[in-house]
Amino acid sequence: MQQRIYFDNAATTSLDQEVLEAMMPYLTEKFGNPSSIYSYGRESRLAIENARKSVAKILNAHPAEIFFTSCGTEASNTAITASVRDLGCTHIISSPIEHHATLHTVEYLHHNGEASLSYVQLLPNGHVDLENLEQLLAETEGKTLVTLMHANNEIGNLLDVHAVGNLCKMYGAIFHCDTVQTVGHYPFDLRNTPVHFISASAHKFHGPKGVGMLYINENVKIKPFINGGSQERNMRAGTENLYGIVGFARALELATAHYEADSAAVKSLKLYMMEQLKKNIRGVSFNGDPIGNSLYTVLSVSFPKTEKSEMILFNLDMAGICASGGSACTSGADQGSHVIRAINNNPNQVTVRFSFSKGNTKTEVDTVVSKLKELI
Ligand SMILES: Cc1ncc(COP(=O)(O)O)c(C=O)c1O
Repeated sequence: MQQRIYFDNAATTSLDQEVLEAMMPYLTEKFGNPSSIYSYGRESRLAIENARKSVAKILNAHPAEIFFTSCGTEASNTAITASVRDLGCTHIISSPIEHHATLHTVEYLHHNGEASLSYVQLLPNGHVDLENLEQLLAETEGKTLVTLMHANNEIGNLLDVHAVGNLCKMYGAIFHCDTVQTVGHYPFDLRNTPVHFISASAHKFHGPKGVGMLYINENVKIKPFINGGSQERNMRAGTENLYGIVGFARALELATAHYEADSAAVKSLKLYMMEQLKKNIRGVSFNGDPIGNSLYTVLSVSFPKTEKSEMILFNLDMAGICASGGSACTSGADQGSHVIRAINNNPNQVTVRFSFSKGNTKTEVDTVVSKLKELI
């Protein structure tokens, strides 16, 4: 069978063997409902609370600020909707290159008449124009929610969270940051970061799919997004994804323990791929700010459009190479990427996102570049 090369780690990552091992007891013998008061239940409850403590410690937050959810999308929906419905935000500022988990939520609230909506301008390299953000904040009369992502999942650009958070503080705005691409790939110190909410998702850092996390700063009081039982201290009803939560914490512990070595190795792969592409393929260009303020896992590459290159994703797939045309959630739907359209609307180019993880190698980069050379 053909060996596959997986360069789509921003879409999802493989489950770490050690994470699976931590989860296994809770998929088998330790099956008690965490809300049950007998020993089986108490054992499950303890596992969840230990996971919460571990996640809080790594992010430098208080355990009471950590709420487990079903995914990053649910975490962002909760934060954004609550900012409008519970915290009195009547205006939302976001950007045109957010993930659909954010974009479709702010558009829904806007179309439903619950808040006005502005999009901050972007600089030519795809970074948020902070001067424009300040201008938008200064012009607003009511309370504002600013929802901006930390690392863009398609181009890797990193937001200056402190700068945005300080602006929000200055204008009394609520700040939600979609950190789905960075939790597990970036050191956080939430106690010293001016942010009200962050969202995370375990499957982006070698944890299981179907479990996310919402950080809610202790000074913020909101109502639940999902109503029902009293799980997650009345903030998120529904029987907890016990093994998922255990997996989330274990994956974050491992990612944190190996951060220095893994991030350096992945960054050097990204730089190596850029170098090899420039050397071997005429007309190649890179989107965003890949060697500047950028997450080391993501590389967005544009190639000149030809009859051959238009079929590039299909042909890469045929060659056993997994990469994405935009964000994973729209790959296959062939709508093009709203992010690439917003920053580089060149109809004569085709764009591929390559995203790496600790499992990838230079040999794989060489194989992919030589295949690309053939295909362009
Ligand atoms: C930046 C960003 N936000 C949110 C999400 C949604 O996360 P989840 O798949 O856990 O719902 C993703 C996943 O692709 C993402 O990359």
